Amino acid sequence: MDSKLKKTTKISNLTSFLDTKEMVKNPILVFEKYRKKIGQTFEFRFGGFRKTIVTSDPDFLKYVLKDNNDNYHKSHIQVKRFVEFQGVGLTNSHGDYWLRQRKLLSMGFTRSRLNEILPTQLIVLKDFMKDFDMDVTNGPVDIHDQMVKFTLRSVGQSLFGSQLKREELESFALAIAEIQKFIVKKVVQPYLMPWYVISGQNRKYQNIRKKADQIILAYVEKRRLDPGKESDILQLILTTPYKDTGEFMTDEKVSVEILQLLVAGNETSTTATTWAFYLLAKHPEHISKIREEIKQVFEDQEVNYEGLFKLKYTISVLDEAMRIRPPFWMIDRQALKDDEFNGIKIPAGSTVIPYIYGAHHNEEVWKNPEIFDPSRFDNENPEKIHPFAHIPFGGGPRVCIGQNMAKMQILLVMTSIIKQYDFELSEKKNIDVHAMMLLKPDGPIEMNFKRIN
Ligand code: HEM
Repeated sequence: MDSKLKKTTKISNLTSFLDTKEMVKNPILVFEKYRKKIGQTFEFRFGGFRKTIVTSDPDFLKYVLKDNNDNYHKSHIQVKRFVEFQGVGLTNSHGDYWLRQRKLLSMGFTRSRLNEILPTQLIVLKDFMKDFDMDVTNGPVDIHDQMVKFTLRSVGQSLFGSQLKREELESFALAIAEIQKFIVKKVVQPYLMPWYVISGQNRKYQNIRKKADQIILAYVEKRRLDPGKESDILQLILTTPYKDTGEFMTDEKVSVEILQLLVAGNETSTTATTWAFYLLAKHPEHISKIREEIKQVFEDQEVNYEGLFKLKYTISVLDEAMRIRPPFWMIDRQALKDDEFNGIKIPAGSTVIPYIYGAHHNEEVWKNPEIFDPSRFDNENPEKIHPFAHIPFGGGPRVCIGQNMAKMQILLVMTSIIKQYDFELSEKKNIDVHAMMLLKPDGPIEMNFKRIN
């Protein structure tokens, strides 16, 4: 259908209001209900009052995230909540400040930089695989739990290097997870704000945050005094000056950015890898093909960065897994000035939600969107995919800075496990999605792993 003909269709205030409870519990169910009924763009009032335009239309997504992105900042509510607990950094700033941070931090994610951190990533992987092997010989494991362990060590190592003790990293991650849950609560239930103050929850989480800040700051200061031979992202940030002034980032800024990178990169990659294993267990015909490809690309060689990105089939499986189950199921924006897209009025202040899950399930773009079919991403597939129809990493200037690092880490653990183990779900049941900030499984995913040689 030509998107020029589309108009936003409003969901009545009463319906929006009646759906508030469901919205707080599992919002994706409400979004999918509206999308199926109304189409790829619809408008409703969040909690009955905040005007919200939701879109899964790739042209509209391109307009908001890329063509006119200057007019669409991250929403005021999200920014406020995140700044309160994470400080101002790359993920929640805008304008010149954001651009300056983005330019500097991008240097930590170049291909050559990722190549440099690969050897330490392989050590992390080997270490993880030892524990994994022990765990899986003792019976079924929850693949999500396993991926939590791998990603934290892997992202932690690439950001902080090896000097940060594992226990410190784990308690730090726990603090972040608790804070994240509280932030989500504040975003979806803003009307409980006075209660958060009276009940002391605000203070409790601020204290947790302060402790986490202190750990990072002390670590940053220690690293400045004794850089060692680390080639992690922290080291890069500490030693790279801003191009415009030649100054270095202050320790406080470094701490904020490192914290934000850990938050942005940890649970997202865990979620993506978990879903990829789940979907492979449901569609085992792809496992042997991946194994064959690994053999062809690496033969008996050690894994290397270039080789990982030659795993075309494996990458198409990952792309398809992130289409069907995108870790970020939505992101949000707020219009700064009045705007209009193809007849749809977007008044200043209104929220626009790039609905990633909807875009990935948009029947106008994808044939049989509910079917897991990696061949959609085959280079030889004649059907061209609209660049904003598949956006697990977002799009436009604020596209995920860590996407290649994430892919590298996910491919490392996927190939390592698939090379050595056959696997299946221990119970043949479907695992549904539970959407809060990320699209998580709605329960444990127990799987059996069996060594193949
Ligand atoms: C599969 C894993 C990942 C997924 C699905 C993912 C997804 C995304 C998405 C959708 C955005 C855009 C948010 C928006 O526009 O509002 C984003 C931004 C971002 N991601 Fe990722 N991400 C992943 C891994 C990582 C990793 C490993 C890192 C770094 C260690 C990272 C760091 C960031 C940062 C810093 C931003 C903000 C960029 C900016 O605003 O300029 N992400 N990510």
